Amino acid sequence: MKRMLVVAGALLLSVGAGIAQQDVANQTQTTMKATGRALGAVLSPMVKGEKPYDQAAVTTALGQLEETAKKLPTMFPESIKGVKIEGDYSASPKIWEDKAGFAAKIENYAKAVTEAKAKIKDLDSLKANVPAIGKECSACHETFRLKI
Ligand code: HEC
Repeated sequence: MKRMLVVAGALLLSVGAGIAQQDVANQTQTTMKATGRALGAVLSPMVKGEKPYDQAAVTTALGQLEETAKKLPTMFPESIKGVKIEGDYSASPKIWEDKAGFAAKIENYAKAVTEAKAKIKDLDSLKANVPAIGKECSACHETFRLKI
């Protein structure tokens, strides 16, 4: 009886951990989607002239990109390795195999965001500085994001 309780307890614990892992993986995806919207639905359309320059929207979008930079170092804990998320993209196992490489990509991205944020104040400076951010998104995705 005692043994059964222990087994049942261990099972419950592992189910609990599974749910927590899924939550973390989903949160990571939610943050990346918000990052994608900040660049793809706010900043890029302004750069291309599809939307008028709007300083408040630019500030919010850059704030999102900065928040992502802060979160990235803890967004991919070992516990979510292999956890499935919905959609077309997933995290490559390389994130955990090459931790130094991944950390370097985060650092480059964070630096690009900080530098761009300090310079962007109008449409011209937006046009001049957004590409440097986009380059770092792609640089990380190339190696660490899988298209599935
Ligand atoms: C240091 C690495 C890294 C950087 C920098 C990075 N990403 Fe990602 N991104 C990932 C990984 C890994 C995934 C796949 C796993 C996931 O979505 O949880 C991803 C997924 C995404 C997705 C797909 C989300 C979905 O499932 O629909 C979008 C959109 C995205 N990133 C946008 C961006 C944009 C825009 C930037 C730059 C402003 C950026 N990312 C910067 C690593 C990065």
